[in-house]
Amino acid sequence: MVSTPELPPLRWGILSTGRIAGVFARGVAVSRTGRVVAVGSRTAESAARFAAEHGLPPAAAHGGYEALLADPAVEAVYIATPHPEHATWVERAVAAGKHVLCEKPAGMNLAEGRRMVAAARRAGVLFMEAFMYRCHPQTARVAALVRAGAIGEPRLVQANFGFRTDFHPASRLWNRELGGGGILDVGCYPMSFARLIAGAAAGGPSAFADPAELTAFGRLHPETGVDEFATAGLRFAGGLVAQLATGVGLTMENHARVCGTEGWLEIPHPWIITRGGGALSFRLHRRGAAEPETITTEAGNLYALEADAFADALRAGAREVSAMTPDDTLGNLAALDRWRAALGLVYPVDALAGA
Ligand SMILES: NC(=O)c1ccc[n+]([C@@H]2O[C@H](COP(=O)([O-])OP(=O)(O)OC[C@H]3O[C@@H](n4cnc5c(N)ncnc54)[C@H](OP(=O)(O)O)[C@@H]3O)[C@@H](O)[C@H]2O)c1
Repeated sequence: MVSTPELPPLRWGILSTGRIAGVFARGVAVSRTGRVVAVGSRTAESAARFAAEHGLPPAAAHGGYEALLADPAVEAVYIATPHPEHATWVERAVAAGKHVLCEKPAGMNLAEGRRMVAAARRAGVLFMEAFMYRCHPQTARVAALVRAGAIGEPRLVQANFGFRTDFHPASRLWNRELGGGGILDVGCYPMSFARLIAGAAAGGPSAFADPAELTAFGRLHPETGVDEFATAGLRFAGGLVAQLATGVGLTMENHARVCGTEGWLEIPHPWIITRGGGALSFRLHRRGAAEPETITTEAGNLYALEADAFADALRAGAREVSAMTPDDTLGNLAALDRWRAALGLVYPVDALAGA
């Protein structure tokens, strides 16, 4: 880790020890601004294992999430539980005075999102939903090209994020109580991308726009009722249309395209851009040009970029990260609620929240 000399590193606590928690901790380790100082798990064994894997002393391993939140060494908490646990731990973390980076989707629905954003604002702490792709320069470059008119008037977004995983009714990707299904797990990315491009297409000061209309088709699993795959058609106020697809039970290409009156952008790796860092390209096809223009961005570890965006905002005194603001999170959750409603996809928590 290379830290800015005059500023001490931001001290991260990792809440939960699953797959992405390890990926994020490795990102922080190579970040410019941060250092992992503690971990909390539901079990002491898992906390100790994670601490050992990430070079933390045994005292930094907490058997229980509350103990992590009570650790005065922790300034910011990264929450990486299954989605239905996010809201509870965001609210408890901000109540403990911690800044929070919470995995996507921040909440199961808009009602949960509103609660957590309100709690963070009341506590005066920074809150960000962990859409790491928003922190990569490729995403900023795509939005800037759209905003600058590089493809003329943007008319159509096509974006997919999905994969095939075998059906296991108890796994978090297929279990309804654990928030299974494609829309919440990875459909949230193409939705957030379409809203980002719609904001850029509108040309105003807002970084995003919300769809005026939404239609959806898909297939719910006959046993657990979560979406195996789903499509959405969106229309935004300015006339931009988007076609989205997602799934946890379908093999599909994960890509994005933005088509306009004078050209189109082809983005082969829009989400997990370069996990470990390096150069990556997308293409700008201009109407009438013989060859597309290849545009390359080069950046470090994707999760380090996210941790750095968070820490830079915090050090600047901000309580939101411009790449992914709390209002953007609420707009995305509202759109995901509509996508699910169009398919009749309901989670137990929807009834509790009155959503
Ligand atoms: N941004 C990204 O690139 C990315 C990638 C993958 C996933 N995610 C998001 O990160 C979150 C976690 O995904 P993951 O793939 O890391 O999941 P995972 O491997 O299943 O890990 C989830 C962890 O949450 C904790 N947990 C708390 N309550 C639980 C419960 N009721 N059941 C199971 N585990 C529970 C467990 O840690 P302890 O036992 O230590 O408490 C578990 O290891 C999801 O919200 C997902 O959308 C983001």
